[in-house]
Amino acid sequence: MKPFLRWAGSKVQLIPTIKTYWQPQFKRYVEPFCGSAALFFSVQPQWAVLSDLNSELICTLAQIQIAPDIVSEVLSRMPTDERSYYRVRAQDPAHLSPNERAAQFIYLNALCFNGLYRTNGEGRFNVPYGSKKKSKLFDALELREASRLLNNALLEASDFQSIVDRTTLGDFIYLDPPYATGSKRIFNAYGKDLFTTKDLIRLTAALDRADNRGVRFVLSYADVPEIHDFKKKWTTCTVQARRNISGFTGSRRKVNEIIVTNCKGIDMSEST
Ligand SMILES: C[S@@+](CC[C@H](N)C(=O)[O-])C[C@H]1O[C@@H](n2cnc3c(N)ncnc32)[C@H](O)[C@@H]1O
Repeated sequence: MKPFLRWAGSKVQLIPTIKTYWQPQFKRYVEPFCGSAALFFSVQPQWAVLSDLNSELICTLAQIQIAPDIVSEVLSRMPTDERSYYRVRAQDPAHLSPNERAAQFIYLNALCFNGLYRTNGEGRFNVPYGSKKKSKLFDALELREASRLLNNALLEASDFQSIVDRTTLGDFIYLDPPYATGSKRIFNAYGKDLFTTKDLIRLTAALDRADNRGVRFVLSYADVPEIHDFKKKWTTCTVQARRNISGFTGSRRKVNEIIVTNCKGIDMSEST
């Protein structure tokens, strides 16, 4: 199943490769930078932990988990023209019911420019209306199916570190962090807090601790100098993907993505 949200940086193209590391005998699937959770919806694990720093996103997943049909009902009453978009965008999510809040998130995600999630300094969503017409705002059956798959997932709005630190032997972690890089050509602005090289250092330390507990992980990242430490510690392989430059779908180019893993027994013929 495809994710029901559009998400900048989603590794949809890498799913066939990353999926080869997942084994059904893993105890839990843990995704601390879940975004639209593309890999989760493809793997469909029995038990999962999905987490992201974006609390609006996690509230939306939680509402789809428990009440997909009510969210669909709210969405079905929302007009999709540009004026309505800016009216919906201006509503403070804190003043909406949980179902209205999830509907607002899905609505903005579907109609905004390139499905980006970007906020201003006060944390308010500020992406403009997308110029391309969307054929469908939402799919009620898809939301119901997402709800079924989310049924056994624990959802948490959190920084990655506490999630990774709570994993135990038998868990599998998939990590898809934003790119901590100075390059303006790489999109990494998901909210008011930028992911920086300091976060990458915290992530390396957390993965070191997880590795020592026998937890298996796969991390996907851009092939940038900042990933040097990961390359020294664990097995890596390079995969080619087409990427939007700075979040613009019009300027796509082929880039090298790196997969870093401590999973064993997998064919790493392209390993470096
Ligand atoms: C590249 S996206 C993940 C895309 C995801 N794999 C998918 O399938 O859509 C990176 C995600 O990391 C989240 N994020 C940024 N900083 C974070 C942090 N410190 N802890 C946890 N999540 C964070 C962003 O909100 C964003 O959703």
